[in-house]
Amino acid sequence: MSKSPVTVAVTGAAGAICYNLLFRIAAGDMLGTDQPIKLRLLEITPALKALEGVVMELDDCAFELLDSVEIGDDPNTIFDGVNLAMLVGARPRTKGMERGDLLEANGAIFTAQGKALNAHAADDVKVLVTGNPANTNALIAQSNAPDIPAERFNALTRLDHNRAIAQVAQKAGVPVSAVTNMTIWGNHSATQYPDVFNARINGENAFEVLGSDFDWVENTFLPTVQKRGAAIIDARGASSAASAANATLEHVQNWVLGTPESDWTSMAIPTSGAYGIDSGIISSYPVTVTDGTTSVVEGLEINDFSRAKIDASVAELREEAAAVKELGLI
Ligand code: NAD
Ligand code: LMR
Repeated sequence: MSKSPVTVAVTGAAGAICYNLLFRIAAGDMLGTDQPIKLRLLEITPALKALEGVVMELDDCAFELLDSVEIGDDPNTIFDGVNLAMLVGARPRTKGMERGDLLEANGAIFTAQGKALNAHAADDVKVLVTGNPANTNALIAQSNAPDIPAERFNALTRLDHNRAIAQVAQKAGVPVSAVTNMTIWGNHSATQYPDVFNARINGENAFEVLGSDFDWVENTFLPTVQKRGAAIIDARGASSAASAANATLEHVQNWVLGTPESDWTSMAIPTSGAYGIDSGIISSYPVTVTDGTTSVVEGLEINDFSRAKIDASVAELREEAAAVKELGLI
């Protein structure tokens, strides 16, 4: 018997990330090639015409799994009964713009969307925020959705996770599949901390396999991963789109279908004390998802260098949270 459709809302649906995301969702790359999908696509009014063009292209793919596509500019309608909400739409950072500048601009969007999800989403809804500043936008949405369990709100750090894996694989001269147990801690920003000390290469400690080269970790690996988003904006004149779409899809895939048995992934989740990070922010952690339950990987060794970097990123998240609280958004 065929599965009943899952209703997936995606915002910013006429934007660059979604142009790389929607077709893969409809093809079954995210939830499996036996899972029918109902797509609900949200845009702002001026972008609805462009979105109609995207829908024509979705039609023209004749995806067998695509049960229906609805578009609109009202989150209350688009989020009605959704099982998954992928909040991609936001104002992207452009050259010279700091992430802090985005807090206020995006606050209104995520307040309204949090309220609409609270009122209309299905009981099992999971919400992933990709739109920047992702962690704090997720916090705003979560704070405005008091009836949805807090842990159903995640922010995307999977792109950073994948970037860190790629850098380690290139340095070690191994395929990316050899690099496991990577962790991004903290904020999806330049303060994020990609943790090579707990990563593995072919099952061995990655730092040691790389020759215990602390200088490379501190002066090449960290800044490369932390500033990769800005480097792409500088090179392309626009923020990452295909890789961000891929990471968004992989996050949801692991969240719904689970993480591989011998590995973990990075997800920004509401904090509740693990690794000394008190509640009140949405911070990236090493997590596993088993039988639908997300768990922080416990017992990792955090050296002094790592602790200081994690603390700095967490401090930035607390500053962002304080700023949006001051603005009355949470
Ligand atoms: P884009 O400008 O191409 O598309 C964004 C779309 O969102 C636009 O079509 C816009 O009309 C729409 N939008 C704006 N406000 C909306 C609202 N209230 N409701 C619905 N739609 C709305 O940008 P993009 O390249 O697709 O990037 C989207 C976001 O993702 C940006 O904030 C970007 O910074 C962020 N991003 C995050 C990561 C990450 O790893 N977390 C990586 C890359 C990009
Ligand atoms: C990225 O990491 O590529 C983006 O978050 C960069 C940005 O600010 O849009």
